[in-house]
Amino acid sequence: MDKILVTGGLGFIGSHTVVELQNEGYEVVIIDDLSNSSESVLDGIISITGKTPIFEKLDLKDKAGVEAFFKNHNDIKGVIHFAASKAVGESVKEPLLYYENNISTLVYILKELQKLPSAGFIFSSSCTVYGQADELPITENATVKQAESPYGNTKQIGEEIISDTCKVTPNLKAIALRYFNPVGSHETAKIGELPIGVPQNLVPFITQTAIGIRQELSIFGDDYPTPDGTCIRDYIHVVDLAKAHVVALNRLLQNKNKSNYETFNLGTGTGSSVLEVVQAFEKVSGEKLNYKIVGRREGDIISAYANTTKANEELGWKTELNLEDAMRSAWKWEQVVRKKG
Ligand code: UFG
Repeated sequence: MDKILVTGGLGFIGSHTVVELQNEGYEVVIIDDLSNSSESVLDGIISITGKTPIFEKLDLKDKAGVEAFFKNHNDIKGVIHFAASKAVGESVKEPLLYYENNISTLVYILKELQKLPSAGFIFSSSCTVYGQADELPITENATVKQAESPYGNTKQIGEEIISDTCKVTPNLKAIALRYFNPVGSHETAKIGELPIGVPQNLVPFITQTAIGIRQELSIFGDDYPTPDGTCIRDYIHVVDLAKAHVVALNRLLQNKNKSNYETFNLGTGTGSSVLEVVQAFEKVSGEKLNYKIVGRREGDIISAYANTTKANEELGWKTELNLEDAMRSAWKWEQVVRKKG
């Protein structure tokens, strides 16, 4: 079976994707620098799939290290590239860290892929490239707006770098997947989201509040022009998202792609408000969540949810799990993690 490199394969979305790749029969090699993950995630992957991926601890900024890796693994058929920094606020404070971490690493990998006889490349992009879209739901043809943060800019520039490279590299085919808001964890609660420090994202903040690590959730603004006044997002279960990567990879390896560079939105198509997420959590957990309404968070867009037609019809993928499934699995995971201590 084909050998696939997953960079950032011990991270949140990466680890769930490794599981789905191994379930599909792919041989997986993980590169991770463990800067925002832990080697123990491997145990979870092995326990779920019964298969052990190859793991190399490598910082992708190490250009010589990347070259040596590809010399050793010149039979790689595809790369799913998750490894990147992803904190929006941090990127505003340290732009060069983000440009170096997210852009130079991408360039080094693409340079190696140019040397292979053929390769498929899947890129972790984000709905952040659309900013506040003029029309909802958001299609892939929506305008890419000026990025609000260096993080968002690395996704836009990353897409352009890949598209430019594909134009001059006939042996390279790529898909950029624009994620909406990934949440939840594997149903076995053997892998999940492990934010370091205070979570910036809504769902881990909710579960950490419910378990008692955080005192209360601050809801950032209830005066937005939405039905209940809180912001709307498209929360997609990470297992559905992981499966989409396998479908996208299959598309490239089976030459079903329509052009050498394609983009797809990955979301459920349903927008949920912050208050609806809290309600879904309370329903599936039976817990009452402590929260208060505070002022708006700078940089938040009002509403974003995906038009899923292209992903459903062209990619042939659709979500199978809903927000309650995601909240149930996130809660189960939080309880397991805290028991482990
Ligand atoms: N929110 C709260 N309280 C919190 C955390 C979040 O009310 O403690 C609200 C936010 O204001 C927002 C919603 O919950 O309305 C979702 O916030 P997240 O931080 O979970 O997600 P974002 O949509 O802001 O960010 C996500 C990814 C980013 C990506 C962005 C693109 O985390 O990497 O989508 O839109 F850039």
